[in-house]
Amino acid sequence: MRAIQLTAVNQLEVREVPDPSPGKGEVVVKIAAAALNHRDVWIKLGQYAGLKFPCTPGSDGVGVVVAAGPDVVPGGWVGRRVIINPSFGWGQGEAAQGEAFSILGLPREGTLAEKIVVPVGQLSLAPAHLSDEEAAGLPLAGLTAWRAVMSRAQVKRGERVLIGGIGGGTALFALQFAIAAGAETWVTSSSPDKIARAVALGAKGGFDYTKPGWAEAARAEVGGLFDVIIDSAGGDGFESLIDLAAPGGRIAFFGATRGNPNVLPMRKIFWRQLSLLGTTMGSPHDWASMLAAVERHAVRPVVGEVFPFARAAEAFALMERGGQFGKIVLKP
Ligand SMILES: NC(=O)c1ccc[n+]([C@@H]2O[C@H](COP(=O)([O-])OP(=O)(O)OC[C@H]3O[C@@H](n4cnc5c(N)ncnc54)[C@H](OP(=O)(O)O)[C@@H]3O)[C@@H](O)[C@H]2O)c1
Repeated sequence: MRAIQLTAVNQLEVREVPDPSPGKGEVVVKIAAAALNHRDVWIKLGQYAGLKFPCTPGSDGVGVVVAAGPDVVPGGWVGRRVIINPSFGWGQGEAAQGEAFSILGLPREGTLAEKIVVPVGQLSLAPAHLSDEEAAGLPLAGLTAWRAVMSRAQVKRGERVLIGGIGGGTALFALQFAIAAGAETWVTSSSPDKIARAVALGAKGGFDYTKPGWAEAARAEVGGLFDVIIDSAGGDGFESLIDLAAPGGRIAFFGATRGNPNVLPMRKIFWRQLSLLGTTMGSPHDWASMLAAVERHAVRPVVGEVFPFARAAEAFALMERGGQFGKIVLKP
């Protein structure tokens, strides 16, 4: 079968590799569509812990189960259209993942392949209202956004929410989940066009984070501060987010695309009773709740662009320059 592999830092190749066969408790999924996450870019750039080469990245995929290990109950999964929960070995607690936690697509071979072997417990039926391209984009970003917005920040009806970098795959799910929860939701982006597209999806408005003074302008336009802020950029812009949080507000963050902030303004945080909430991926409970909400609210993942495996380098380059609005999908 063909797989998109990294053979060294920044060396992306479509290669012939042996077909996988299922072990105990495992199934083989024939991938119909896979999707990129920023994690795949960090891995390609050699900026991820536990790198090994060659490796097949990819945490997101939808496909049909074509084979099952000897001990997997026959007839249950074979022939079903499934998505794969990329959060492996979370453990028992809801507060945080345990030591056995890992993410599909390193160290385990990922979804950017014609076939993949996964434990049967990681499967869920693909939501019927979604195309393959849409369903492929749901797993990692949908799970991360759900936990950030619903489990950690606990966004409530009527609250004012700000979501940063709306072109991002995860940010767009955060927007959709916050709107579904009944929040008044605003966004930031480097692109006026992406802000307009977010407004078309139900955002109240947005602000260009590249413009000096954007945070003051945002405060003036919304007529106040934000109860909840969802961020994955960090960096020096993080201080503006602290300034924009309402007293008692929550800032949930799951990424540091722009690195660490130079300053953490302690006094602003304690005096205004702010909660800084770190969050990563999600538990099996988060996964099930996210899927139920996607069905209940008929959420449709936003698909930015679809590429064949042969054009994987273009797909990665698009994500590296932040050109996308929504998920970047790859089809075998
Ligand atoms: N901990 C976890 O479980 C977890 C899960 C998912 C993602 N992440 C992390 O979260 C980040 C986003 O991941 P993704 O897969 O959603 O990425 P993505 O689809 O590549 O999105 C990246 C987006 O970040 C935005 N951005 C860049 N610089 C920014 C800044 N200074 N301020 C605000 N936004 C900025 C851009 O938005 P515009 O184009 O609108 O400007 C860009 O489109 C990455 O660092 C990733 O590693 C972590």
